[in-house]
Amino acid sequence: MVMPDAARAAAREVAALLREASSALFLTGAGVSAESGLPTYRGTGGLYERDPTDDGVPIEEALSGETLRTNPALAWKHIAAIERACRGARPNRAHAAMARVEARLPRTWIATQNVDGFHRDAGSKNVIELHGTLRRLRCTRCEHAEERRSYEGLAVPPSCPRCAALVRPDVVLFGERLPPRAVQAFEAELRRGFDVIFSVGTSSLFPYVSAPVLQAARFGTPTVEINPGDTELSTVVRHRLRAPAGEALEAVLAAWR
Ligand code: OAD
Repeated sequence: MVMPDAARAAAREVAALLREASSALFLTGAGVSAESGLPTYRGTGGLYERDPTDDGVPIEEALSGETLRTNPALAWKHIAAIERACRGARPNRAHAAMARVEARLPRTWIATQNVDGFHRDAGSKNVIELHGTLRRLRCTRCEHAEERRSYEGLAVPPSCPRCAALVRPDVVLFGERLPPRAVQAFEAELRRGFDVIFSVGTSSLFPYVSAPVLQAARFGTPTVEINPGDTELSTVVRHRLRAPAGEALEAVLAAWR
């Protein structure tokens, strides 16, 4: 895809911002992993477009904390499908570009809704996983937890080797609260403030990811949206790069040199 001229001009403006900045926040979502071949949740080809699921249950219901409790096999069927999609995939140039920003600026944070672990794979260290990670499994009854890069060979639904209770991924399912430690870390970094805030590859539907951008815009902090589609933030942000994340971020980095 050839980047539109408006996005190129915006990339130069954002590069100028980064030259002056000492801190940046990236709020990221499924669109960042789209170039890795992972489906997004919403939009064409998105996971929620195939609603209802083959089982006749809306995906939001199948992937809920309630279904995990009452029908673990059904919830796990969909969890395993998402994990399978991640398994052969790798981080892409969008993840790499954000890691390069972290290496260059004194303080960069990523607050991601993605559960695929790709930001860390790409070398980013300051990553807050607001929706948890598929790479950690934990028992629903005892303290047992294990890091696991792949679910290959895992019996689904899995049971705890210690107490035989149901094991689940350490992710946020529908109807569940965000992990308190991630929320605390996120709030602490937001209190410190950022010189520039990016929203990348997310539909920004959840208030906790749109609010920092809305607030920054209100107080005059530079805001950037990178997304080939429209969101409720598109008309709010100061700089809009209407392009895929990898291409847009590479254009920003190229202009930043
Ligand atoms: P969505 O699927 O809602 O939105 C993906 C966004 O990425 C859309 O705005 C697309 O236009 C955009 N997009 C698509 N391809 C892109 C590309 N190559 N580069 C940049 N952007 C691109 O995904 P999220 O906003 O992450 O939560 O969804 C938020 C949460 O909703 C998910 O974490 C998940 C879901 O319910 C839970 O499972 C708890």
